[in-house]
Amino acid sequence: MDVVVFGAGSLGSLIGGLLAREHVVTLVGREDHVHAVQEDGLRITGEIQAVVRPRASKTVSGAADLAIVTVKSYDTPAAVEALSGCDCDAVLSLQNGMGNEERLASLVATVLAGTATYGALQDEPGSVRCTGIGEIVLGPPDGGQSTIADRIGEAFSTAGIETTVAADMPRRRWEKLAVNAGINATTALSRVPNGALSDGPLSDVARRAARETARVARDHGVDLPDEAAIAALESVVDATADNESSMYRDVQSGRRTEVEAINGYVADSDVETPVNETLAALLRGWERESKLGK
Ligand code: PAF
Repeated sequence: MDVVVFGAGSLGSLIGGLLAREHVVTLVGREDHVHAVQEDGLRITGEIQAVVRPRASKTVSGAADLAIVTVKSYDTPAAVEALSGCDCDAVLSLQNGMGNEERLASLVATVLAGTATYGALQDEPGSVRCTGIGEIVLGPPDGGQSTIADRIGEAFSTAGIETTVAADMPRRRWEKLAVNAGINATTALSRVPNGALSDGPLSDVARRAARETARVARDHGVDLPDEAAIAALESVVDATADNESSMYRDVQSGRRTEVEAINGYVADSDVETPVNETLAALLRGWERESKLGK
């Protein structure tokens, strides 16, 4: 399979690097990373160790069976523009937040949604550290079966990536949104690792944000009980207790956050969502002060 990874940061490089063990992969990313990969290949360290030689480029061109998009949600419009120069059969979004698949749908008929629980950190250009072996779950964003999803799942598995092809992506996407709505803003605003949400007042804020997200999911016709959203949140808090969430890392580095595609998305609803509204307002305030954001 011929695969383009658009947004080869930590997760994109790890998944692209693992796929490169069996497939033809092009990593599209930042100049220093692209240059290092072109020179010496990609070094995977940590829980998986390998040196692979994917192609690397700053721009997208030509044809591919699959484009994997791993950019931040606010960069999805830029991904759409860049990928319009690529003749891709299918696009898979492995991104945080909601609305990405809908935007990518202007590119190709087959857009798949995915979730990733592999842990990845980029220490230096040309290298990526696998901090946890997880799973990729992928499938049609609106649910159901698809032979293309099966084929892509097979290609991932052949490359040794733990993969499940799921027919219930709507529920899984909302469950992931509930986890991100609970963890990301709370840890970013309080500057704490995920494990700080296991008890106390911050845990209460996170649970309320997740519960509101489940309510909004049900308003969209997706059967996500409050208990399932809370259980998913608790299990991710436990499994990633020592980790800093992506939004906490964004705030620490003075970067724009994905608040609009997470708490902002939940709050943009007919359902009452006071906790998500407050979290979104606080983060927007921080972004405004830091001269970031929309
Ligand atoms: O965005 C993140 O950091 C991750 O999606 C998660 C699951 C919250 C773990 O930190």
